[in-house]
Amino acid sequence: MGLQADSTLQTVLLFPVHFLVWLYSVVSFLPWYYITGAGEKKALSKRVKARSTSGCAEGPYRSVDQFESLAREDFPGKDTLDKLMYHAVQRFGTEHCLGTRDLLSEENEIQPSGKVFKKLILGDYKWLSYNEVDSIVSEFGSGLAALGQQPKSSIAIFCETRAEWMITAQACFRRNFPLVTFYSTLGEEAIAFGLNETEVTHLVTSSELLQTKLKNVLPLIPKLKHVIYVDQKKVSTEGFSDGLSIHSMQAVRELGALPENSTYPSDSPWFSLQARVGSEIVKPQPSDLAVVMYTSGSTGRPKGVMIVHSNLIAGMTGQCERIPGLGPKDTYIAYLPLAHVLEMTAEISCVTYGCRIGYSSPQTLSNQSTKIKRGSKGDSSVLKPTLMAAVPEIMDRINKNVMSKVQEMSLIQKTLFTLGYRYKLEQIKRGYDAPLCNALLFRKVKKLLGGRVRMMLSGGAPLSSATQRFMNICFCCPVGQGYGLTETCGAGTITEGGYTKDDKPNPRGEILIAAPM
Ligand SMILES: *[C@@H]1O[C@H](CO)[C@@H](O)[C@H](O)[C@H]1NC(C)=O
Ligand SMILES: *[C@@H]1O[C@H](CO)[C@@H](O)[C@H](O)[C@H]1NC(C)=O
Ligand SMILES: *[C@@H]1O[C@H](CO)[C@@H](O)[C@H](O)[C@H]1NC(C)=O
Repeated sequence: MGLQADSTLQTVLLFPVHFLVWLYSVVSFLPWYYITGAGEKKALSKRVKARSTSGCAEGPYRSVDQFESLAREDFPGKDTLDKLMYHAVQRFGTEHCLGTRDLLSEENEIQPSGKVFKKLILGDYKWLSYNEVDSIVSEFGSGLAALGQQPKSSIAIFCETRAEWMITAQACFRRNFPLVTFYSTLGEEAIAFGLNETEVTHLVTSSELLQTKLKNVLPLIPKLKHVIYVDQKKVSTEGFSDGLSIHSMQAVRELGALPENSTYPSDSPWFSLQARVGSEIVKPQPSDLAVVMYTSGSTGRPKGVMIVHSNLIAGMTGQCERIPGLGPKDTYIAYLPLAHVLEMTAEISCVTYGCRIGYSSPQTLSNQSTKIKRGSKGDSSVLKPTLMAAVPEIMDRINKNVMSKVQEMSLIQKTLFTLGYRYKLEQIKRGYDAPLCNALLFRKVKKLLGGRVRMMLSGGAPLSSATQRFMNICFCCPVGQGYGLTETCGAGTITEGGYTKDDKPNPRGEILIAAPM
């Protein structure tokens, strides 16, 4: 009796596994090749993408799409960043440009360990259209000019990734104010060094950074006269030196919205500044400095990398060539630091091509992120982005999360997942896809990032091949791994040439970069 029950149990338990093995063999023999147009995809992935310009195997290699000469401009004649923005406003005027989620409420959640975590409840994305961004950029730029900011003199930004960062950058490009950026992880000493070295008189920041990291730094920068914080809430100006004026971005915009050359009544807070609303816009030339990007560098003091308009445009043109179909149908999720060249060029490119940008942060990216209240939606669930940049650390984290979820599954689900993973891996290696597995197994994983991501870009550090494969399989989208430097505007190479340092008899792959970026 006992024996019989055992074997029945065994049959019941094993049946699904046998069934799955059978299903697996059937599925792998179906003619997916013809059903899904895989042949076409394979031809596309196996086509020659780069050729040697010297005719010798040693190279140098250049993309076949730009074999005769390098691409320098996204749009002919749009050779400065302000022209790119005006062009985008003309083309996409009423479409969504920059989006930020409303903060509905904040609460403190006490963990079992006694630690208190701040949890946010966030609403929908509120969007600014291209036209709206254009007028904010224009008012803010004019306001900065009224506060004495001169063309070709540097202005600094030290701020989290948010819409106001991009608006500030665009205002500076438009009025030829070179923008000095700082990585938020730089220490106080490094920031003081950079602000001093660039002799800035104006600094744009957030109230949080103003009250924390900058508090000890500002007294060391004698040339600094104006600090503008981007938040809506009011910031107390107590505790700052007398020589320093603290303004909200809103107030500077209002200043810029006044008629040209108007003067201020004696009861106006602007009266004492003797400011006159910014007159003529001095437009940048392609060879003018656009950005000075401070990075930690590998040795000694932080280094400010000097980037002119034409460098950035050439770099972004090359990067965008590798994102087929980039345009108004795309949504980009922005959460990496904007003071990193990868994120900055990605976002300026989005604005250039009419792709909307939804702002996020590593703490609110998904349902499971640390600042998202349990049961409420993370940014990617609300935004449903189609494009995403990621550093390997983030992808490693996603990989670990998904794999730990898989471990919690029932035996059947786990077996199914493993079989599906192996099957799709085989298919991908042969240049095909596995649509049934995608629909049945990986759709759920893909939903972690909203379900619509069609391409991911990775940079900043090498991505392990295991994680790259995992992202390819579970998120059903290509992961473009880029190699570049701040000094090359982020552009350099991307993994797709199909040649390696192990090629015989001519090893290939040494990187020498010389180009307009
Ligand atoms: C700022 O620069 C001046 C002169 O270039 C130098 O004497 C001073 O020590 C610098 N201060 C900081 C905080 O780096
Ligand atoms: C504003 O002032 C400048 C310099 O004084 C002058 O050249 C310009 O014409 C004035 N603009 C207007 C609209 O009055
Ligand atoms: C995220 O949370 C929302 C609301 O609770 C839910 O509808 C959605 O399915 C969740 N997404 C994922 C991928 O768990």
